[in-house]
Amino acid sequence: MKNWYKEISVYQIWPRSFKDSNGDGIGDLGGIIEKLDYIKSLNVDAIWFSPLYPSPNADYGYDIADYKNISPEYGTLEQFKVLIKEAHKRDLKIIMDLVVNHTSDECEWFKESKKGHDNPYHDYYFWRKGKGKKRPNNWISLFEGKAWKYNEDLDEYYLHVFSEGQPDLNWDNPKVREEVKSILRFWLDLGVDGFREDVITYISKAEGLPNGFPIPAACGMEHYSNGPHLHEYLMEMRKDVLDKYDCFVVGEAPMMTPKKAKKFITEGENQTLDMMFHFQHMEADCLFTDWVHMPFNLRKLKKVYSNWQKKLYKTAWNALYIENHDHPRIINRYGSLKYRVESGKMLAAMYILQSGTPFIYQGQEIGMTNITLDSFEQFKDVLTFNNYRMFKSLGLSDKTILKITNRASRENSRTPVQWTSEENGGFTTGTPWFSVNPNYTEINVEDADKDPDSILNFYRKLLKFRKENPIVIYGDYKEHNKCSSKIFVYERNYEGRRLLVVSSFTEKAVKFKAPKGFDLSSGELVLKNYDDETVVDNGFTLKPYETRVYLW
Ligand code: NOJ
Repeated sequence: MKNWYKEISVYQIWPRSFKDSNGDGIGDLGGIIEKLDYIKSLNVDAIWFSPLYPSPNADYGYDIADYKNISPEYGTLEQFKVLIKEAHKRDLKIIMDLVVNHTSDECEWFKESKKGHDNPYHDYYFWRKGKGKKRPNNWISLFEGKAWKYNEDLDEYYLHVFSEGQPDLNWDNPKVREEVKSILRFWLDLGVDGFREDVITYISKAEGLPNGFPIPAACGMEHYSNGPHLHEYLMEMRKDVLDKYDCFVVGEAPMMTPKKAKKFITEGENQTLDMMFHFQHMEADCLFTDWVHMPFNLRKLKKVYSNWQKKLYKTAWNALYIENHDHPRIINRYGSLKYRVESGKMLAAMYILQSGTPFIYQGQEIGMTNITLDSFEQFKDVLTFNNYRMFKSLGLSDKTILKITNRASRENSRTPVQWTSEENGGFTTGTPWFSVNPNYTEINVEDADKDPDSILNFYRKLLKFRKENPIVIYGDYKEHNKCSSKIFVYERNYEGRRLLVVSSFTEKAVKFKAPKGFDLSSGELVLKNYDDETVVDNGFTLKPYETRVYLW
């Protein structure tokens, strides 16, 4: 079924590092408003904001203290209304991040809940007595030690799957669900067009909070990921609020597979989410997490992509991304620093031309890369510190941990956006809150804008092509050269038109012959990242990280 959310492309802003307009070193709404024309120039149709709400920043905004306001660090609610108006004027939709698996420990609800067992907010969270001297169960937090924090006044523990500053909300309490609905209505009535729902698959915890299988790091996850009432609670949100507005919802869904996802995203009466952010394609160079490195494996990547493409076709919808604020930069991972421009373009074509709604993360469009920091004092993220402690307990040296952190930390994607070759990459006139990647002198928006061969201008072309060619949006998908560990080849078909996307993931030369039924000499080469268009015997030799897209 055709739908606007299938036709849009979305630009993600992580506000703290996007653009500072008042010289305090922190990105803000003024900076975003300044850059709306730039965002529009990318040929995207919507902006997803990572949290803009007031927050003590235990997890940089993913710990919300006030759900119906804008953080004073970023601006005011009045200014946000201006931002919505200015964005809509440019035909840019606005998508808010909704973080409701947990709140901040500075949220009024939590402050009240701590006041006593009889407080009406007490049951908004999971407060439990210990078992003798032990915690209520053996769950381990994903961000900070054990998943329970003790409160002496109450002689009870509260559950925090993420950091101590992010107590989990008790969705089994109908009052909590009413609060969430009221938050949804608040922003929708203000004019926003949709939500990205943070770790939404964690909101329903197993009854009785039983002990987890004793694995390190994620112990307990089987009792809160994809929990018993997840579908029911999401349906309640859909029926009571979302269905009444013309909005869309993408749910973040760690550990998701197409089979499990279909329960939530299959179009029809039982659908609760429009699409999901799964993580499987982000694991082609690691084991479950970026922190456990493995050699990049293209076949693993292709298998995941083809599986999602095929299983969802015509019944559900994919969300496509290769970067966000939770992962290191993709060129460092699946591309090549030596062939930064070539591989940056290739990766863009490879994922954006698949079936699904593409998301582009700030800085990705200019090919920003990881930063190397030389001491732990320079890092800022709760997860970095958690992993430092974990590696330390395994006996690793600081030097080794620093090396791992520089490669794997999500802080790599949180360095300020590089706008110009001037001081601080033009991000701020003050002192930036976090290190600017020193390569801003070569990699920045201003220079990329002027260079017709830049990654930036490739993204613009690519996203325009997607907009103008329904085959990219509604076409089917078929993979070729499946056994190759060097190239990724797929075709799309729609209403008599055909598209062939050929991408190389290596710096070695690779011989390619068009699949049966494709005549390259009659196809139009619509996108490419090298000047050479030579075709010999209905094939060509791919140069390092080359991509070619043919249309018939
Ligand atoms: C997923 C978010 O993307 C991430 O940044 C955050 O730390 C966790 N959820 C917890 O909210």
